[in-house]
Amino acid sequence: MAENGQSAEWNGRKGEIWVVNHERIDRMLAPLGRAALDAAAPKPGEFVLDVGCGAGSTTLQLAKEVGATGSVLGVDISEPMLTFARKRAAASPAALPVRFELADAATHALPRAHFDLMFSRFGVMFFAEPVVAFANLHGAMKPGGRLSFVCWRPAAENELVSIPARAVKGLIPPAPPAEPDAPGPFSFGNPARVTSILSGAGFSHVVLEPFGCRMLYGVGETRDAAIEDAVEQAFETGPFSRVLGELRGEVLEQARRAVRAAFADRAKNGGVFIEGNAWIVTARA
Ligand SMILES: C[S@@+](CC[C@H](N)C(=O)[O-])C[C@H]1O[C@@H](n2cnc3c(N)ncnc32)[C@H](O)[C@@H]1O
Repeated sequence: MAENGQSAEWNGRKGEIWVVNHERIDRMLAPLGRAALDAAAPKPGEFVLDVGCGAGSTTLQLAKEVGATGSVLGVDISEPMLTFARKRAAASPAALPVRFELADAATHALPRAHFDLMFSRFGVMFFAEPVVAFANLHGAMKPGGRLSFVCWRPAAENELVSIPARAVKGLIPPAPPAEPDAPGPFSFGNPARVTSILSGAGFSHVVLEPFGCRMLYGVGETRDAAIEDAVEQAFETGPFSRVLGELRGEVLEQARRAVRAAFADRAKNGGVFIEGNAWIVTARA
């Protein structure tokens, strides 16, 4: 199991948060996942691996696209997220060719030269040793098989972080500079690093296409409710929640007011919209 603290995180509060908030998270990530699925172009009959599949949203989408003659295996280190993914699959009106396994994608003994396509929506940025992990995944793919995943560009280019961070600047001491390559949501922001990791793991034809979109971050029956929903997400689920979650007392109240004001600027047409910037990465095994 993942040895770099990720297993504890994704089996603890973080995993529970993703399950409880799966609708919001899927709504927000849908355009980015769709772009990676379009680049993956799954075909009927293909064998697909969904890495870091979490609560299974893309695994189920892939299963619909490969159909009964294909199959999709979702692997993840988070038991609560996989339990939820299995429930979702069982609730599907039509039987889907999908299976979920609790496994660390970096080290798990996957079937060799088996998969036509390896896919991930934001599930490959948490490996302690990414070259080793991708080499393991490469071995599971058929020669010439396709890799397609979506990962975030740097935190500074993503309003999930930059809006709340700017709002509380001056209210709290500046955080120590983040190590950009440390496992975490933004560790694949640098395209040269991603290319080097994938090439080092044996992949060829590595291409990173920038993909930016408006993400629906807060929803509600009224404008105020949508803004409040965005504030709640920033404090509870977003990547900046680690910083915001530490705040207490008057500073917490001031931070909430500042973050609310920042999201109010983004409220229109029944929602709060923020900009997301990612890489759609494709390569060949
Ligand atoms: C940001 S979430 C994305 C989940 C899902 N792909 C989605 O888009 O909803 C990252 C996922 O990667 C999983 N993960 C992290 N390290 C992993 C590893 N070494 N092997 C398999 N899954 C891992 C986490 O448990 C989590 O479910």
